[in-house]
Amino acid sequence: MSKPKVLLTGRIPGEVMARLAGVCDVEANTEDRPMDREKLIELIRDREGLISMITDGVDGKMMDAAPRLKMIANMAVGFNNIDLKAATARGIPVSNTPGVLTDATAELAFALLLAAARRIPEMDRKTRAGEFRWWAPMLFLGREVSGKTLGIIGLGRIGKAVARRARGFDMRVLYCNPARLDPAEERALRVEYADLRSLLREADFVSLHVPLTEATKHLIGAEELALMKPTSYLINTSRGPVVDEKALVQALRGRKIEGAGLDVYENEPALAPGLAELENVTLLPHVGSGTLETRVRMASLAVENLLAGLNGESPPNILNPEVLQAVYKNG
Ligand code: DGY
Repeated sequence: MSKPKVLLTGRIPGEVMARLAGVCDVEANTEDRPMDREKLIELIRDREGLISMITDGVDGKMMDAAPRLKMIANMAVGFNNIDLKAATARGIPVSNTPGVLTDATAELAFALLLAAARRIPEMDRKTRAGEFRWWAPMLFLGREVSGKTLGIIGLGRIGKAVARRARGFDMRVLYCNPARLDPAEERALRVEYADLRSLLREADFVSLHVPLTEATKHLIGAEELALMKPTSYLINTSRGPVVDEKALVQALRGRKIEGAGLDVYENEPALAPGLAELENVTLLPHVGSGTLETRVRMASLAVENLLAGLNGESPPNILNPEVLQAVYKNG
């Protein structure tokens, strides 16, 4: 029996690649850079399965170029790069990889929070440049994290994992979420509900953990930044467009807030003009889930979802289950 033809648009850990290649005929991107869109459209023509990355804009045009396409497995928890409506309209199941990158992303959010508060990248640059000439009580001062208030916007899996880590720093944790937790869960997690404006006014650190949707685009803009304390920090490991990056540059430049830690950008990989020149921002290249352990888990889960979809089964992390219902109903 011939193996299903699959297109894999990013290089994945060898052990998972070997497993995939054992059961599928794989056309794979072997470079650590996104596949060119035109090339992707060319290569997808005869493919039944697609394992896509967040850098691939998978839209109706791409789906129409692949008449045999039966399954799209996105190797990410976020899926704003996929036109889900277009896939559903074409009866193509789409999946993501939730759960397996929670700890890695929460760790990175905390690393950014500490790096921003204690000015770690800036101090590293200065120490290398020979600016550590002597110790003095008022030199190189950062801000304490312990005992401060953390405001978490979006209390899903990753937001909750950040809240658990905050306990180790004796932080008070406020959260804002479309659905409020029940009181027992709030007590267990030691979090307090706050509306967005109150959270922004009270928090010393604001950490973003929302998906990118129409409703969350520019959730943090000039108005929201103006509500934050001048001593506070903004941490973003979610999606860049959740923050109006131009407004953030203004706020950082004018010291309307103390600093920021960013892993994601509005127009990745480009940075908003002026951002890279600022000393009070820590910048990372979208590596929230970037640990070897997590990338193995993400790739494995994407493969599991892909194979289920290709076999006509329900992928464990399907995002548009109505597609399957339609198949069952229509026989
Ligand atoms: C995700 O999974 O959505 C991350 O942003 C990429 O790992």
